[in-house]
Amino acid sequence: MAAGLRFDGRVVLVTGAGGGLGKAYALAFAERGASVIVNDLGGDFKGYGKSSSAADRVVNEIRAKGGKAVPNYDSVEDGEKLVKTALEAFGKIDIVVNNAGILRDRSFVRISDEDWDIIHRIHLRGSFLVTRAAWNHMKNQKFGRIIMTSSAAGIYGNFGQANYSAAKLGLLGLSNTIAIEGRKYNIHCNTIAPTAGSRLTQTIMPQDMVDAFKPEYVAPLVLWLCHESCQENGSLFEVGAGWIGKLRWERSLGAIVRGKNQPMTPEAVRDKWEKVCDFDNASKPRSIQESINVLNDALSQIESQGNVSMHSTSSGSVISSAVDTANIIGRELATKVYTYTHLEPILYALGVGMSTKDPDHLKFLFEGSEEFCCLPSFGVIPAQISVFDGVPSLPGLNIDFTKMLHGEQYLELYKPLPTSGQLTSVSTIADILDKGSGAVLLVDVNTYCGKELLCYNQFTVFFVGAGGLGGKRTSEKAKVTVNPPKRPPDAVLSDVTTADQAALYRLSGDWNPLHVDPSFAALGGFKKPILHGLCSFGFAARHVLKHFANNDVTRFKAIKVRFAKPVFPGQTLQTEMWKEGNRIHFQTKVKETGEIAIAGGYADITSALDKPSAWEPVKTAGLQSDLVFEEIGRRIKEIGNELVKKVNAVFQWNITKDGKTVQWTIDLKNGSGEVYQGPARSSADTTFTLSDQDFMDVVQQKTNPQQAFFSGKLKVKGNIMLSQKLEMILKDYAKL
Ligand code: NAI
Repeated sequence: MAAGLRFDGRVVLVTGAGGGLGKAYALAFAERGASVIVNDLGGDFKGYGKSSSAADRVVNEIRAKGGKAVPNYDSVEDGEKLVKTALEAFGKIDIVVNNAGILRDRSFVRISDEDWDIIHRIHLRGSFLVTRAAWNHMKNQKFGRIIMTSSAAGIYGNFGQANYSAAKLGLLGLSNTIAIEGRKYNIHCNTIAPTAGSRLTQTIMPQDMVDAFKPEYVAPLVLWLCHESCQENGSLFEVGAGWIGKLRWERSLGAIVRGKNQPMTPEAVRDKWEKVCDFDNASKPRSIQESINVLNDALSQIESQGNVSMHSTSSGSVISSAVDTANIIGRELATKVYTYTHLEPILYALGVGMSTKDPDHLKFLFEGSEEFCCLPSFGVIPAQISVFDGVPSLPGLNIDFTKMLHGEQYLELYKPLPTSGQLTSVSTIADILDKGSGAVLLVDVNTYCGKELLCYNQFTVFFVGAGGLGGKRTSEKAKVTVNPPKRPPDAVLSDVTTADQAALYRLSGDWNPLHVDPSFAALGGFKKPILHGLCSFGFAARHVLKHFANNDVTRFKAIKVRFAKPVFPGQTLQTEMWKEGNRIHFQTKVKETGEIAIAGGYADITSALDKPSAWEPVKTAGLQSDLVFEEIGRRIKEIGNELVKKVNAVFQWNITKDGKTVQWTIDLKNGSGEVYQGPARSSADTTFTLSDQDFMDVVQQKTNPQQAFFSGKLKVKGNIMLSQKLEMILKDYAKL
């Protein structure tokens, strides 16, 4: 038995394994430990007749050598039956080699309907039916290897084989899509175009070639592609005589054959024909996305034709020169509403490297913490959607996301950010600048909670290669970076980002594939996906907050950064900080390379003494729950003594509505009980947080408090057991 690549425990179905290539595969798999289903209908090479002897002979040969095999005599058109044999004999199916085939060669015009149909039924439909029958078993076990057998006749065409060529190239299309759909289940599908001496080829090959092109020179490729250690997927190989080559598509640079607002004519196609067919500097597209990208580029190039002074790049302009900058400056983008629960601030905190290793982590990572709060840099999150969604839809801008870079960021906070609620962001294009190498868009975003301004962001978006607009280079509206003092830093903090940092950070709402998809990153010129600039920004903000504000979010006023160099997930971010009064200058380096990733940064921190009052509960009129608390208050005046004896606890309520919080306290511990608006004067035994509507649902017994708690609608802090006494207080108000 051969060592090396083994298939012990694997169950392999080889169709058409009674002779030729299929037999070589079956013997090779069995020799390396696999259990093999030897399928063969046993007809002649044109598909007439049937017999069990072909499959039996191969099974006997395998068994005689000590291998495991069972025969199957069904046609591949009965795909389910083939897989059933595998399941009955060996309990599973791991590998399918679609190999069975026949020929009905005729010059094109003499192909009968039957000759056309049977070739498609055996080769294409048969492979589909067998593979489909095996699919869910492979999917459930998260392993599958599939081979499709194509042919040079399909790839290149061959006289007399139109029916066969069509079916054989159909198999490649089938394989390409299966490879995409199977990838996430570890199901790989590859296609081979073999050349081997067999009964199919002996009519067209001289005997010495038939002898020399042994099926055994193809089988090792099939075994490798089907091995669990092989990651190849969705590929096509030519193989024969001991040689293997991989094929791919090549596409000429092509030519644009129409002008803006002009009809497209056959004459224009003729005139550009040489260019259309010129393979100099050809590309090798690998996916449908890459295929479509070139069309998008062409479209933006066409749209920008005939206008002034756009810097044109090889792949097309990024900002159409049709931009009437005066028309865009001052334009308001669509207002965006961001609704969130405690989940988003926690996910964000994890995304920017907050860790349970940090002694202060609970207040950022646990919604039940007394001091639960948002990292100040979370202020960019509700604002970013209006930029991501709004900028691309600006008239006259043709955004190529692979060329759009986040250049700088400014964030100013007027209030600590609520840990849940509904925020509204209003964005305005503050200015457009021409930096020569690119164009810069300044986008101002004001984020409100109700009518109250919570924070202001300025996004500086850079479009590579779109300079030359002829506009101004600087703007008085721009928040500018400041170089750090020329002395050694006062403090240095560092954090290692994880390999999954970008994958985690993007869940906070920046879905640009540049940060997760290697092929998209490659299009942008990066060797692998890069970390979001705003993720590094979050790390830096955290460093400043920790070292100079003792993690007190109420002291964090503003932050400005410039994204100077990309950071790759897994690298270490090291923030060097200098204190100058209330301003902390900083820069963040990639420790491994020494390169500055964030340059000219500063954060404004208020001193501990004159820090503003913390997030004050907003007095809101008209909450439904107000009526309930007032009513409870009246009843406590009547029977408070009795309730104090039974309950003996102080309950604080944080009732949220539209991002605002109204606090009420039910004191059933002191004196004869009391209900009042605002936080507990003495400490609360239990604090409940829930929305006005959920509160009403509890009171009206549409939900009970336990249900509300387990569904996450009701958050409880402090003595959770006391919440059982809630029903005692609330049940009389069900009819309110
Ligand atoms: P082969 O004729 O020796 O083997 C094909 C096997 O498939 C036969 O044993 C036959 O009984 C079986 N078969 C036919 N119809 C079936 C059905 N409906 N259900 C189950 N089994 C069935 O031919 P060879 O050369 O080994 O071909 C194997 C595959 O490789 C075929 O798909 C063929 O088109 C392909 N191929 C072969 C080339 C070569 O140079 N030999 C060139 C290009 C492709």
